Amino acid sequence: MPEFNQGEWVLITGGSSGIGEEFAYQLAKKNVNLILVGRDKERLVNVYKNIKQKNYSIDVKTIKFDLSSDIDIFIDTINHFEIDHLINNAGFGWYGEFINVEHKIYEKMISLNITNLTTLSHYLSKKLVEKKKGGIINVSSVAAFFPLPRFSVYSATKTYVHNFSIALYAELKKYNVHVMCLAPGKTKTRFFERANMENKGKYMSVEKVVKGAIKAYEKDKPLYIPGLSNKLAYYLIKKLFSDTVIANYLEKYF
Ligand SMILES: NC(=O)c1ccc[n+]([C@@H]2O[C@H](COP(=O)([O-])OP(=O)(O)OC[C@H]3O[C@@H](n4cnc5c(N)ncnc54)[C@H](OP(=O)(O)O)[C@@H]3O)[C@@H](O)[C@H]2O)c1
Repeated sequence: MPEFNQGEWVLITGGSSGIGEEFAYQLAKKNVNLILVGRDKERLVNVYKNIKQKNYSIDVKTIKFDLSSDIDIFIDTINHFEIDHLINNAGFGWYGEFINVEHKIYEKMISLNITNLTTLSHYLSKKLVEKKKGGIINVSSVAAFFPLPRFSVYSATKTYVHNFSIALYAELKKYNVHVMCLAPGKTKTRFFERANMENKGKYMSVEKVVKGAIKAYEKDKPLYIPGLSNKLAYYLIKKLFSDTVIANYLEKYF
């Protein structure tokens, strides 16, 4: 079973906010060392200070890096760490009609949510296979399960993350390396305000999402969908309706 063991190193992309920040707090309690990556230095330092205040005997490193840019430069900066677990969490969405959104936003989204997530997974998988331990959590979304009008590129990037992660789970389990896809529904973070989207409806707390995700990962689960309504949405709607019916419905109401 994969476990977050004392003294191991965990790399968390998007550790400066939301789900990634909460992973940092909950994993610090398990006495693992952390590498937190994001672009916002001030927020990273804040997370660093919040953890250091607790006096855990762990190392915490922060790296300011735009993970939608040249990922090889980033890999050079982390190459000397013996990383045991990777949480590929950094990601963003952008709400709006496809034709009205700058194509540069989509290019950045695909680089971050797909291309560089894949390169980081590839880089670490090879190292973990040699060690025959550790693993990767890739953060997808319930948006992966439905074609979402006005969130078309975002939902497609998350479908990629879902399929990629589960396939990788099946490939790497023979090497004792675990891969899990985390597919949250609406979670209370800065995601929506940053996605050009109105905040409405019910949200899960980051604490619940992350607590469940860590438990599921340590139980060797390939997929974790937090929350009953999100699980039901996945299992029921996917079984009952075709993707076209779902997309047409969401085109009207989402
Ligand atoms: N919140 C939800 O309802 C929800 C639901 C399903 C899935 N998700 C997924 O959960 C993940 C985390 O999102 P969140 O909800 O926690 O939102 P958030 O509060 O906006 O956090 C996003 C994190 O990603 C980092 N990030 C974004 N672009 C980056 C870049 N170019 N380079 C480096 N880091 C970057 C941000 O750091 P900086 O700002 O410092 O760069 C931040 O730490 C995302 O993959 C998102 O798609 C969220």
